[in-house]
Amino acid sequence: MIELRKFVKIAEINHVLKNQMQVFIVKNKEILLVNVDGEFYALDNKCPHMGYPLFFGKLEGSTIICGFHNAKFNIKTGQPLASVTDKPLKTFPVKIKKAAIYIEIESSEQH
Ligand code: FES
Repeated sequence: MIELRKFVKIAEINHVLKNQMQVFIVKNKEILLVNVDGEFYALDNKCPHMGYPLFFGKLEGSTIICGFHNAKFNIKTGQPLASVTDKPLKTFPVKIKKAAIYIEIESSEQH
């Protein structure tokens, strides 16, 4: 099997309102799709601190704050912003095509 990366459709742009976030399942992975002022970002829904879902956290501009121990991450880069953890949050490349949102994710399918 070859490990490939490819863009897969995750949602329509009107599924996530401005400055809101929503969880979608892609390839058995929980992806947190965040709309920051009309720009979309895809994040692993698992906080790198202890693995709890970031969906229960809150958004402050382009920062997400985990609802469990208040770790903060830059949504655009995944970099940690406070001292709770120094592990970065996994992010996925996003592209928009005809009002649909695609993210680049690993795929183990052969082509
Ligand atoms: S699980 Fe997110 S800060 Fe601890």
